[in-house]
Amino acid sequence: MAAPLKVLIIGGGIAGPALAYWLSRIDAKVTLIERSPHIRASGQQVDLRAQGVYMMKKMGIEDAVQAAAVRESGTQLVDTNGRTKAFFPTVQNGALKQSFTSEYEIMRGDLVNILYSLTQNCENVNHLFYTTVDSITQDDENDPHGKVHVNFTHGAQEDFDLVVGAEGTGSKTRAMMLGPDAPDPRRRVEGAGKGFIGYFSIPSKPEDSDRGTFCHLPKTSVSRIIATRKDCPEITRIYMLMYGTDDALEKAYASGNLAQLKKAFAGIYQDGGWECNRFMEALQNAPEADDLYCTPLEEVHLPRGSWSKGRVVLVGDSAHTKTPEGFGTTWGLIGPYILAGEIAALYGTARWTPSAAVIQGAKNYEEKFRPVVTARHGSRSWIEYVTLPTSRLGTRLLHTFAPVAAHLRFDQGCGLDRRTTKWRLPHYPELTNQLEKVCSTAASSFPDSYYYPELAKLSIDSGWTW
Ligand SMILES: Cc1cc2nc3c(=O)[nH]c(=O)nc-3n(C[C@H](O)[C@H](O)[C@H](O)COP(=O)(O)OP(=O)(O)OC[C@H]3O[C@@H](n4cnc5c(N)ncnc54)[C@H](O)[C@@H]3O)c2cc1C
Ligand SMILES: *[C@@H]1O[C@H](CO)[C@@H](O)[C@H](O)[C@H]1NC(C)=O
Repeated sequence: MAAPLKVLIIGGGIAGPALAYWLSRIDAKVTLIERSPHIRASGQQVDLRAQGVYMMKKMGIEDAVQAAAVRESGTQLVDTNGRTKAFFPTVQNGALKQSFTSEYEIMRGDLVNILYSLTQNCENVNHLFYTTVDSITQDDENDPHGKVHVNFTHGAQEDFDLVVGAEGTGSKTRAMMLGPDAPDPRRRVEGAGKGFIGYFSIPSKPEDSDRGTFCHLPKTSVSRIIATRKDCPEITRIYMLMYGTDDALEKAYASGNLAQLKKAFAGIYQDGGWECNRFMEALQNAPEADDLYCTPLEEVHLPRGSWSKGRVVLVGDSAHTKTPEGFGTTWGLIGPYILAGEIAALYGTARWTPSAAVIQGAKNYEEKFRPVVTARHGSRSWIEYVTLPTSRLGTRLLHTFAPVAAHLRFDQGCGLDRRTTKWRLPHYPELTNQLEKVCSTAASSFPDSYYYPELAKLSIDSGWTW
């Protein structure tokens, strides 16, 4: 028997804790580090789609996800006077025929908590907060006992068999792995200029709809959509999607300054029609809006074969972001399963040294998963063209034809293409044969995730100095 695999996972969002769970099933010794001082349970609604639904069931968290799920009755389009133009009801029939509103909509924070709870009682999994890494070096790939040498920011040094970057789009592990001369693999989404997506919370009014409500605003120098969603009575969540380039927003994002960022968004959406002025007033004055989170519309394009280098490997958004595609959470949950499964299939077998098993397993993971997850990189799906029109005429056409589409149920199977639908989750007996090895089931009580003012200052990733 090989010694337990010793793993460092950097980043405790979706992919990090999911990987910790799968590795705990093969008795790996896992350290999961997160730079935020506590579980970073912020964010708005995320959804699990297609194979993500099966993945969630495989992880045994369906009941916990169901219990925390947001019940949204459907999605509607309104015009700038607030009149409903089309309505797409939520479909409750399993995985593949979901509408714009998934049956498994859940607040990101609730999902992060559920994933953490899977390993919180595991002796083999150590969760460390307010912790990150300064440098990573590793032994030659041919060294059968080779390790990764990690220098933590607080001064400690430790060796690992495997180091995984799960830090999201701005991954520092990725930068260290690729080296200083490699180009930054982040690209702004084709045709979207320097577009952004942003979310925040405001106090509710009784007339706020329980439907996901989308309003296309008249085009200015940029194209704008604003939307509301409701997951709890007291609070309405505001979603902003902007295509085009706005210099003030670009600068504010780079500064990482929350007040400046709020001002820049208000500059774009003020006087846009519908309830924009109420939303922008709240953005700038209501304490609830301090949870503003925003991210550029961007994709991570790594050259083939570079999701890993030796014993350092990337999962989740750090390997393959595509914003705003709606599959980030689904893929963020599946990638860790495949990585753990591919390594488990080789580790401890006679043919592979421990080090070679890790290196080859990481390569196999990319080979299996990359074609699925990057299938739609660099292109916009028809659904994006239809739902994100960039002109006045486009909006008028959308409002005219959306009711027809709703009637014909075009929205069902939303976001799926044929290649994605056909793909089946691989089966790894090494991961699933020992069901009794679950260290804990999903905890029954989670911290309230409605609103975390103390985390607000952490919402803008570019604001970190380490
Ligand atoms: C605060 C937040 C809010 C979000 N809100 C939404 C949302 O409302 N809707 C949506 O669709 N998607 C949202 N996302 C993105 C979504 O979670 C991801 O697209 C997807 O789930 C893939 O997850 P991931 O684990 O790869 O990355 P992420 O979920 O981005 O998690 C990365 C984690 O790594 C941590 N981290 C980053 N750098 C370091 C470092 N150097 N050292 C240690 N830890 C580090 C981050 O603090 C974070 O906890 C949000 C992400 C974050 C971080
Ligand atoms: C890690 O820390 C040790 C001790 O401080 C130092 O000697 C070494 O150079 C560091 N490694 C890197 C790559 O910075």
